[in-house]
Amino acid sequence: MIKKCLFPVAGYGTRFLPATKSQPKEMLPIVNKPLVQYGVEEALKAGLSDIGFVTGRGKRAIADHFDINYELEHQIEGTGKEVYLESIREVIDKCTFTYTRQSEMKGLGHAILTGKTMIGDEPFGVILADDLCFDDDEGVMGQMVNLYKQFRCSIVAIEEVPMEETYKYGIVEGINIKDGLFRVTNMVEKPKPEDAPSNLAVIGRYILTPDIFDILEKTPPGANGEIQITDALMEQAKNGCVMAFKFRGKRFDCGSVDGYIDATNYSYENYYKK
Ligand code: UTP
Repeated sequence: MIKKCLFPVAGYGTRFLPATKSQPKEMLPIVNKPLVQYGVEEALKAGLSDIGFVTGRGKRAIADHFDINYELEHQIEGTGKEVYLESIREVIDKCTFTYTRQSEMKGLGHAILTGKTMIGDEPFGVILADDLCFDDDEGVMGQMVNLYKQFRCSIVAIEEVPMEETYKYGIVEGINIKDGLFRVTNMVEKPKPEDAPSNLAVIGRYILTPDIFDILEKTPPGANGEIQITDALMEQAKNGCVMAFKFRGKRFDCGSVDGYIDATNYSYENYYKK
């Protein structure tokens, strides 16, 4: 039912400079696979096979990654190394990829609005590939798609964070409907701990209903002078149309060096070595 997944990948990744000077942050590997491939695999597992990237300058490596490299294929054909290409071949086979450019970095909300031409008038998933999620069952996006079938409204994935870290996230307040599920009543982007309505932080997984685009078109710049998806979601929440969901699984903030290292160690121990 939900087929499309948007990947906003236009950000500069300044926290990883100089590594991200001429290569996208989303192409940094966790062990031997780039971050963005984990994200696309999660989307595919959830049944979202129409992948749309909102890219920017210097992001061509992403498009190349999701395309066949004939020279390389020819070179390793019939050798024991073919196994290394299996995961990316599967993704290329099963997904379609569309690209559009965000010409100015005006925030995540603006990046999502830029993706409107690829999405049209249907609900869609959003994955921020620098938030890497591990869940061996249906995946975090898969969990959210199942919830969407029940509630038919926008859904954000949330996680409890230490109170002193609220300034890094969109923070939600809501009515607890059942275990781990809230109907959002308030959302604040990057509040100081003393202003935060809770410690429930939005992570990089969303399901959005398409009315979000009309709202985003009217959303003025908010925190940091950027057009914030949080502000647009707050408009939807006023009509009782946003759910916040404590996902099952493990999530790493790979946009930060510490989170990236933790994810690498976790992935190496739990998947690569096994
Ligand atoms: P971040 O806040 O992590 O920004 O964006 P960033 O530029 O990628 O990284 P730093 O802070 O400079 O190190 C969160 C997500 O939103 C996307 C980013 O690509 C990232 O996936 N984004 C953000 C856009 O696509 N466009 C924007 O204008 C802003």
